[in-house]
Amino acid sequence: METQQQFRILVADDSHLDFAQIICDEMASSAMARGTGIAKRSPDYIKEKMKEGKAVIAFTSDGIWAGFCYIETWSHGEYVANSGLIVAPQFRKGGLAKAIKKKIFELSRQKYPEAKIFGLTTGLAVMKINSDLGYEPVTYSELTQDEAFWAGCKSCVNYDILMSKERKNCFCTAMLYDPKDHYEPEETKQDFQQHSKLYERFMQIKQWKLLKPFLKKEKDPNGNGERKRLFSLFNLF
Ligand SMILES: CC(C)(COP(=O)(O)OP(=O)(O)OC[C@H]1O[C@@H](n2cnc3c(N)ncnc32)[C@H](O)[C@@H]1OP(=O)(O)O)[C@@H](O)C(=O)NCCC(=O)NCCS
Repeated sequence: METQQQFRILVADDSHLDFAQIICDEMASSAMARGTGIAKRSPDYIKEKMKEGKAVIAFTSDGIWAGFCYIETWSHGEYVANSGLIVAPQFRKGGLAKAIKKKIFELSRQKYPEAKIFGLTTGLAVMKINSDLGYEPVTYSELTQDEAFWAGCKSCVNYDILMSKERKNCFCTAMLYDPKDHYEPEETKQDFQQHSKLYERFMQIKQWKLLKPFLKKEKDPNGNGERKRLFSLFNLF
């Protein structure tokens, strides 16, 4: 598969194992740069996905690694998650994430035609890409309740928030494509176009509301009244 730029987007295999480390490093440093939480992945886990044919990898025509995404299955294959989307910083904003997500979506549909496909994201760009593919925003209760999936969130800095909300809410927005009951991509795409500002605002408010209980009021040592301190922020990000 070729984008209009110079990328090759392939189903990953054994020949790509050496890229697992660089992929993991980029996932971690991108999350740090964004100041958001992320479920951490090990190079071994990424390698396993490659060996199983459950990952998509992108390269420039010169063979430079440019992006990645993989498939996870939950609830005995009833649900599929397309996770770990990453584009190398120098290749962003050129449509590569969109092309990778399209490829992994097609691979998921081919491998698991009956499965509901979902993703969790804090980013508007990913919400846009998902909407273009026919995903719609859903509550967490519509996602897999497989304990192993939620255990993956333990390595995210926002895990305490997720648990304080009894797994019903967190910073991420959940989006789902149900093959048996879904809007046409044109409809979800239009909906996102019409409401993207609203989604953005909604995410900001949601994040503020979720963080609020973690705010601690303390006396200003100079006696200038109370000031709020985001005491947990150092732990969160
Ligand atoms: C998020 C990320 C994958 C996007 O990669 P990318 O290659 O730059 O994305 P694309 O160029 O394919 O853009 C996809 C679409 O999102 C849109 N978009 C990008 N940023 C956006 C934003 N902040 N708000 C709304 N839409 C946005 C683009 O305009 C594009 O839409 P279009 O095709 O209609 O123009 C990349 O920035 C990244 O790797 N970030 C770090 C890791 C991460 O956040 N992963 C997602 C975890 S869920």
